[in-house]
Amino acid sequence: MDPKEFLEFLKERRSIRAFQKEEIKEKHLKMILEAGRWTPSASNRQPWEFIIIKDKEILQKVSETAIYGKFFKRAPLAIVIVGKTSESPNWYKIDTSLVSMQMMLMAWSLGIGICSIGSMDREKAKKLLGINKEDYLLTILPFGYIRGNIPKPTLRKSLSQIMNEI
Ligand SMILES: Cc1cc2nc3c(=O)[nH]c(=O)nc-3n(C[C@H](O)[C@H](O)[C@H](O)COP(=O)(O)O)c2cc1C
Repeated sequence: MDPKEFLEFLKERRSIRAFQKEEIKEKHLKMILEAGRWTPSASNRQPWEFIIIKDKEILQKVSETAIYGKFFKRAPLAIVIVGKTSESPNWYKIDTSLVSMQMMLMAWSLGIGICSIGSMDREKAKKLLGINKEDYLLTILPFGYIRGNIPKPTLRKSLSQIMNEI
């Protein structure tokens, strides 16, 4: 892989909030799940579970728990990333965050749009999804082939704002 192209690929990724109705191809879904499965984790504990929502009614209900994410009911599919707190009490949030990034990048390489949803009523969403009380619902990732234009890049702080040399 060409490193410059890879950096461009990272820079070109956008959060996508408008999706085509077309279902996600099974082979694409498998690749996204594989990208998640191969995520590194602290002590290789892999403290996660993925719930794939294909049922439109459940998707609709879960989207109602989102504060800034009601759009995701229009996605053909969503993956819920769950952190198994007891399997890695200190690291489950970091490990599952890495899963979501791997899945996002895999999806982007396939022309599939995605937007991580963090702003939700977690307790309500967990009940709807049958997630154990002690486990952590990190994020819901709605996936769909991109509809319309790709949004312009969002701003980033400059390197000089975030970097220190010692
Ligand atoms: C942890 C996390 C939670 C997010 N939650 C939401 C959300 O609830 N609703 C939403 O519309 N976007 C959400 N986003 C998307 C961000 O707003 C978006 O990544 C950010 O504005 C940068 O834009 P970009 O992804 O296009 O580069 C979330 C992103 C992350 C990483």
